[in-house]
This record gives sequence, C-alpha cells and structure tokens, in this order.
Amino acid sequence: MSTAGNRTFAIIKPDAVRAGNIGNIIQRINDHGFKIRAMKLMHMTREVAGGFYAVHRERPFFGELVDFMTSGPCVVLALEKDNAVQAWRDLMGPTDSTKAPKGTIRGDFGTSVGENASHGSDSEENAKIELSYFFNATEFC
Ligand code: CMP
Repeated sequence: MSTAGNRTFAIIKPDAVRAGNIGNIIQRINDHGFKIRAMKLMHMTREVAGGFYAVHRERPFFGELVDFMTSGPCVVLALEKDNAVQAWRDLMGPTDSTKAPKGTIRGDFGTSVGENASHGSDSEENAKIELSYFFNATEFC
C-alpha cells in the first residue's frame, strides 16, 4: 500500500510574491509537513486566469479577480499530505484576509478578500482538475 498522502493545488498569489513572501509561505508549507510535488513561477495571461476561475465568470468580482491574478507572477504548486485539501485550507485560513486569524497564511500575508495571498482547491475532485490545468504529468516529482 502506498504511504503517499493525497494532493491539492495551491497558488502563492501575486500580492504575496510582490511583497517578498514566497519564502515565508514555503517555510509554512514545509513546517506543516506537506511534500511539494510540483512547483513553478508563472505570470498568468488573462486567458489562463479566466479559464482557471471560469466558475466565477458571472460573479461581480470576476474582472477584478482576473486583473489581480494577472498583475504579476505567482507560484503554482502541487502539495501532498494526508487530507491535503482540508489541511491546506486550514493553513490558509478563510478567504477574506480581514477575517482570517493571525497565524494563518491569509491572516498574516493577505490584505483583503481579493488580495488574499493564496489559493487552495475546495475538494479532491477540483484538486485533480486544477492540478492538471497547470501541470503536465511529467512535471510531478
Ligand atoms: P480563491 O480561493 O482563489 O478563489 C476565488 C477567489 O475569488 C477568492 O480566492 C478570492 O480571492 C476572490 N474573491 C472572492 N470573493 C471576492 C470578492 N467579493 N471580491 C473580490 N474577490 C473575491
């Protein structure tokens, strides 16, 4: 039987990259026992960001979300751990950074609901879809 945990998809968003927090967030990923299975720095085009967030296309904040996600480079990652989806969501804290407790990634590095430093998949099914949106099979270690 495999001892590997399951995987989630994570983004260190452009606000956190701009603020110099890639290292701080990766330190937390390590400290909380996630294995990084894939990782790259990328600057999303509007097409890539819009496709990724297509489920939010009808929301009033969609344009703002695409503007922000294309405003600078981000880091996309595949994280592995038991119950990776929930464990990463717990480490990030709630979506709205102003409501996220200190000690969570969004509480410490985010500034608003839009500029919230990080993304994580909301289910194992979406994790698989999101991982394959950004990574080829050959990019996983
Ligand atoms: P994320 O987990 O990446 O998934 C969708 C994103 O939409 C969310 O984080 C927020 O950054 C963003 N978002 C959600 N609600 C709002 C809002 N009211 N205004 C701006 N952005 C939002």
